[in-house]
Amino acid sequence: MNLDFPVEQTVKLRHSVRTYQQAKPISQTDKEKLMAYADALSNPFGVPVSFHLLETKDSNAKKLGTYGVIKGTKVYIGVTVPAGVLSLEAAGYTFEKLILYATNLGIGTCWLAGTFDRNTFASAIGVKENEQFPAISPIGYTAEKRSLTESVFRKTLSADKRKNWNELFFRDRFDTPLTKADAGEYALPLELLRLAPSAANKQPWRILQSNGAYHFYGQIDSSKAAKHSVTIERVDVGIGASHFHLAALEKGLSGTFEKLTDVNITSPKDLRYLFSWIPERE
Ligand SMILES: Cc1cc2nc3c(=O)[nH]c(=O)nc-3n(C[C@H](O)[C@H](O)[C@H](O)COP(=O)(O)O)c2cc1C
Repeated sequence: MNLDFPVEQTVKLRHSVRTYQQAKPISQTDKEKLMAYADALSNPFGVPVSFHLLETKDSNAKKLGTYGVIKGTKVYIGVTVPAGVLSLEAAGYTFEKLILYATNLGIGTCWLAGTFDRNTFASAIGVKENEQFPAISPIGYTAEKRSLTESVFRKTLSADKRKNWNELFFRDRFDTPLTKADAGEYALPLELLRLAPSAANKQPWRILQSNGAYHFYGQIDSSKAAKHSVTIERVDVGIGASHFHLAALEKGLSGTFEKLTDVNITSPKDLRYLFSWIPERE
């Protein structure tokens, strides 16, 4: 299938951008392109995901802060979803598709779920009571040189590294790693999932292949998750699922994402089952 951008190339090109060209603010045309694309996006989880463009334009506007992490742009996109089953996964899936589209247009982005003043952004957006507001991203053109803060961030997070296949993908049981040969035509969708961005680069996704289906789990610390309104690992798994799905679609592999009532698989305590990819049988 022909998608809006070449999936593998764009996934490999994308990286977090925290330093932007102050002298060259994002153009009106690019902002409009992004928001038109955002407003037309759908997701396989059937959740209505909303995007909001935010700018600090004049001195009367309340300062939208990122604690000095983001430099050189004043333009952001925020994502909101109604609270519910698979809502955060849908937010991750849909926002990542927008981020890949932006990457392909030469626009820099950076998922932010922690280092921004959430309350100020939430009131600027007008987040409603039953809504969740998991993240924002700055948009702009990448500066030639990274700020010192950005370089330190990347080093601390080992931002260029990812976990290996044998830590992430399993076959039938969580003590049996899935090889690329076992994955067959799903080797590329899984590889692109592996390269996805995640909060603090934790890569909390774990995928188990069984009877041709791929079951998606999140490594979630339940005690921490109970304290936060947004379980960020659910967003991360949604991001991974978008890479997986886009690669599968590009290869002509069809199927559906479903939340099964009983997967009947024993999993380690820290893993939470989220949803499954059920390939279409020929
Ligand atoms: C859901 C999510 C939340 C994130 N939150 C932040 C954040 O608050 N601050 C930040 O500087 N980076 C944040 N990041 C960026 C990650 O640190 C980054 O994706 C990861 O280190 C991998 O680097 P890369 O995006 O360049 O591949 C977030 C990423 C994701 C996916």
